[in-house]
Amino acid sequence: MWKAGDRMKVAVLASGRGSNFEALAKAAQDESYPAIIVLLVTDNPEARALEVAKKFGIESFVVDCGSKKGSMTPESSEKIASLCRERGVELVCLAGFMRIVKGRLLEEYKGRMINIHPALLPSFKGLHGQRQALEYGVKYSGCTVHFVDEGVDTGPIIIQRVVPVLQDDDEETLSARILKEEHIAYPEAVRLIAEGRVRIKGRRVFIDERKN
Ligand code: GRF
Repeated sequence: MWKAGDRMKVAVLASGRGSNFEALAKAAQDESYPAIIVLLVTDNPEARALEVAKKFGIESFVVDCGSKKGSMTPESSEKIASLCRERGVELVCLAGFMRIVKGRLLEEYKGRMINIHPALLPSFKGLHGQRQALEYGVKYSGCTVHFVDEGVDTGPIIIQRVVPVLQDDDEETLSARILKEEHIAYPEAVRLIAEGRVRIKGRRVFIDERKN
């Protein structure tokens, strides 16, 4: 068992609404949860995630990641890495962070950085996973929490949760059904990692039984 005061320090990177960030912050309010959210970083000064940080008393920073959509400058990568390092961050959670992480931040946190994606990977990578699933015509979709590597939504899979795609779904209704599962999956994945129960072996992730 982890000891009180020994909770894993987590940073969240988010660009928008921040509902997954909020789910993590809520989970971490419980003192028996093995992780604590110490930092929010956003690339977007308008992000609702900043309000969430304020509400939960979590330190937050806006970092200019450059004007190239979906990408980040080497300086911003270095800046976010140092914000994390200075606070002893042990795990970085991407939660709707609309930039592909590369450079210093990825080098420093590879194997200690995870992402949530609104589809059952390896299907429907990239933007609009829910819309892609609807257009393809799958009968089930869901969400995936995975480690971040150099690719886009390609790292080893930690947790997936499945939802049905219903006949009368549109992008909005399917996204809402998936989002509910995201808010369960993300805190659960962070818990497993913070409890030291997650091992990566090649592409496969193994979850150890709870140690007591
Ligand atoms: C979620 O659907 C997540 O899976 C994707 O971006 C969205 C972020 O939503 N990566 P929110 O900002 O957490 O509400």
